[in-house]
Amino acid sequence: MALKSVIVLEGTNPHFGWNDSGSKPSGFPLNWINGPEKVCKSMSFGGFSGFSACRAIRNVEDGNTSKRGTHLERVIDETKSSFPKPLSVSDLSSTADDGSKVRISFKGYPGSYTEDAAFKAYPKCETVPCNEFEDAFKAVELWLTDKAVLPIENSSSGSIHRNYDLLLRHRLHIVGEVQLAVNFCLLALPGVRSEHLKRVISHPQALSLSDILLSKLGVSRENVDDTAGAAQYVVSNGLRDAGVVASARAAEIYGLNILADGIQDDSDNITRFLVLARDPIIPRTNTQFKTSIVFTLDEGPGVLFKALAVFALRDINLTKIESRPQRKRPLRVVDDSNTGSAKYFDYLFYIDFEASMAEPRAQNALGHLQEFATFLRILGCYPMDTTL
Ligand SMILES: *[C@@H]1O[C@H](CO)[C@@H](O)[C@H](O)[C@H]1NC(C)=O
Ligand SMILES: *[C@@H]1O[C@H](CO)[C@@H](O)[C@H](O)[C@H]1NC(C)=O
Ligand SMILES: *[C@@H]1O[C@H](CO)[C@@H](O)[C@H](O)[C@H]1NC(C)=O
Repeated sequence: MALKSVIVLEGTNPHFGWNDSGSKPSGFPLNWINGPEKVCKSMSFGGFSGFSACRAIRNVEDGNTSKRGTHLERVIDETKSSFPKPLSVSDLSSTADDGSKVRISFKGYPGSYTEDAAFKAYPKCETVPCNEFEDAFKAVELWLTDKAVLPIENSSSGSIHRNYDLLLRHRLHIVGEVQLAVNFCLLALPGVRSEHLKRVISHPQALSLSDILLSKLGVSRENVDDTAGAAQYVVSNGLRDAGVVASARAAEIYGLNILADGIQDDSDNITRFLVLARDPIIPRTNTQFKTSIVFTLDEGPGVLFKALAVFALRDINLTKIESRPQRKRPLRVVDDSNTGSAKYFDYLFYIDFEASMAEPRAQNALGHLQEFATFLRILGCYPMDTTL
């Protein structure tokens, strides 16, 4: 869980905007990005010094080894949150919330689909690429960025469970959602035609969603962690036999040609992202709001039915329900008179419902749920994204 590094851009290399000084030069970039080494690139983003940012993260990490492996239960028991405050006024001055100076951390390389989601929510934001989802969260907690964007589910493979776990482990608030139709392109170095390709590199999901075209090309497939990372890899190694499945924006950033646009096989290509911040937004009723909660229940007959009824009774639509085993205490042992003792999974339930916390019906529903839920936390109340 240790924070490894924040990847940062400098924009000195005309080709793809990377300053590679100080990084491990060769080898697969995604190994590099996930490698054990702590890599900090220098960074200059609107007066925001990435170098000290990296140092700040390291110090916190080094001084905090005992907090590694924070357990769910401990988090659940925590009643209040406190984030480290900025060290100086100058740190704060670049944190205006007018939409143009918003800094958003995300997991992935520049040009990834998550970065697209950040730009959809905040067209003028500055994005800060991170190695891991965890790093994107920590960047917000340490005031290095204002918000984080993370994918939470997509129509091709459902919920991204790891990210649900992160929502609970950290104390950030959901302040928005973004729905994005993912459009895949086949990219290659300038001058390379599709008949030259022997292999195509991308995220496994992107490869499998583009199966028809890739089968037609008869290329081999290589899995990597990030679509834009694959583009960066092909460019930095000058691979003329390799194509990439990534976004049109990645083509632009890394200087690749688009050989084919919209190569996904079917229409199940919508990804939903959450925008997270240190502070919740004030719920209103002037636009459609959604509220996300997580709770646990005691055993008992029909208790989940009872939990769902608090919403149904008040005509509140649920848009999503998700259950996750509790990591720390996954099994509950109960005495069963027939078979001796039995073990059950203990679950956390995540629910999204269509109502604003400013509405009495939502407040009443949660008040009602609180009467029998053993734990309840509001993850956020935010305007629904109804656009695609
Ligand atoms: C869909 O979700 C899976 C994880 O559940 C993720 O690996 C994949 O990248 C997502 N696909 C898209 C197109 O975002
Ligand atoms: C998903 O992909 C299909 C096939 O390429 C495309 O026709 C459709 O418009 C896409 N869906 C959305 C919502 O963009
Ligand atoms: C619940 O969802 C249905 C279908 O989308 C919609 O017609 C209805 O207005 C919603 N009800 C409320 C109370 O929001």
